[in-house]
Amino acid sequence: MATDVQRFGGKTAIVTGAGGGIGEAYARALHAEGANVVIAELNDEAGQAVADDLGDRALFVSTDVADPESTDAMATATVDAFGGIDHLVNNAAIFGDMELAGLTNVDYDYLDRFMKVNMMGALHCTRSVMRPMGKGGGGSIVNQSSTAAWMGISGFYGLAKAGINFLTTSLAHELGHRNIRINAIAPGPTDTAAMNKQVPEAFQDPMVAALAIKRLGQPGDHVGPVLFMLSDEAGWMTGHVMAVDGGQITRI
Ligand SMILES: NC(=O)c1ccc[n+]([C@@H]2O[C@H](COP(=O)([O-])OP(=O)(O)OC[C@H]3O[C@@H](n4cnc5c(N)ncnc54)[C@H](O)[C@@H]3O)[C@@H](O)[C@H]2O)c1
Repeated sequence: MATDVQRFGGKTAIVTGAGGGIGEAYARALHAEGANVVIAELNDEAGQAVADDLGDRALFVSTDVADPESTDAMATATVDAFGGIDHLVNNAAIFGDMELAGLTNVDYDYLDRFMKVNMMGALHCTRSVMRPMGKGGGGSIVNQSSTAAWMGISGFYGLAKAGINFLTTSLAHELGHRNIRINAIAPGPTDTAAMNKQVPEAFQDPMVAALAIKRLGQPGDHVGPVLFMLSDEAGWMTGHVMAVDGGQITRI
């Protein structure tokens, strides 16, 4: 993707879960705007394929965001390859293959792993990058939340995303003195292979009918808001959760 706008020339960005879906769209857009991009992904084949396709200035690092040793290794590999870390997008999550269960009957081992990936993963990655980021004069982070966090009814998926929102506001205060900003995006229903697997078409139709803009989101719909929050244009914005959802959530 060629673009004349180059807000990230000479910068280095890590995108977790960038082997497909929305994360891949972020990685491709950051790369197109000049960034060195690290694809930090659990699915080796998918992550390597995106990095190979991007070519120069792209690196795949096999990463499990649930494991702090793995996210430390991700940060080290990034600094070794590109000399520093300026941006992080905490996008990775268990989503398409998510088990259908409620909070009262989900298996505890499954729930433990789920929360380690979908909530704690963002904290592990943030802790792994904050020192190199601070050393380089600061940086910015965007967490991938969901409108599910505000609906209050989507079980452990929503619980993890509510945790992501809390991490966003709380870490903004802990990291501000290092000149690190941290914001979040809350996408509404977005047309990815994972979403189509998780939400059958029969459920998608009423969901779309309830939106103000009557179509599913596309991964590209989230790119502009996320790159804005990562960029210097949002230099005094931190601790904010931005809905990008076709009007699914309305608040006054
Ligand atoms: N698609 C939607 O409707 C929608 C809506 C709101 C929020 N989201 C959020 O957006 C993000 C991306 O969703 P998507 O639809 O592109 O799904 P996706 O499944 O394509 O993306 C998730 C990626 O994370 C990777 N991943 C999973 N566990 C990992 C781990 N432990 N370590 C590293 N990588 C791991 C997966 O391999 C996958 O590539 C997720 O955080 C999801 O919760 C999606």
